[in-house]
Amino acid sequence: MDALDMGEDLAKVLISEDEIATRLDEMAAEIDRTYAGEEVLLIGVLNGAVMVMADLSRRLHTPVTMDWMAVSSYGSGTRSSGVVRILKDLSTDVHGKHLLIVEDIIDSGLTLSWLVKNLSSREPASLKIATLLRKPEAAQTDLQVDFCGFDIPNEFVIGYGLDFAGRYRNVPFVGTLAPHVYGG
Ligand code: PRP
Repeated sequence: MDALDMGEDLAKVLISEDEIATRLDEMAAEIDRTYAGEEVLLIGVLNGAVMVMADLSRRLHTPVTMDWMAVSSYGSGTRSSGVVRILKDLSTDVHGKHLLIVEDIIDSGLTLSWLVKNLSSREPASLKIATLLRKPEAAQTDLQVDFCGFDIPNEFVIGYGLDFAGRYRNVPFVGTLAPHVYGG
């Protein structure tokens, strides 16, 4: 899917496909330097992280294995309640392993704060975070992010794994939607 397919639903391209690719090259190099050949378990947080996991992992020289978690905010329906339930847990025992959580976006940071606590209790050798996008203005936690692609404004974004009502995840860039899309 491209900008033409989106037609008038697209307000603007915030980060282009080329910009994402260049930044992922840099992030992969930084991750390789950090782990210096140690094996790392990449943990993708479904669903949004699928694209960044695929593209970042293929750039790494560090030996990796991969696993996935699916989580959801519990109850209220707001994603940022901070109360999270596990929809799909890891298939791997992470005890003693170097873990790198791979995310598409950190918004309030509440999901990841919960995930960090949850995974830390499983006694990994180390636990770090990589995210393509972060919204500093929306942060509600002092979460330490080890590898961050782009800091973006506090706007609703779609593409490169990020959806609106399930759509647009397969857009290859990160963009904003025209107001009529929300209006229904
Ligand atoms: C997004 C994103 C993070 C979370 C960040 O997932 O992938 O997991 O929201 O929000 P927070 O920092 O405010 O907690 P979402 O719940 O939209 O699910 P999805 O990945 O399936 O789209």
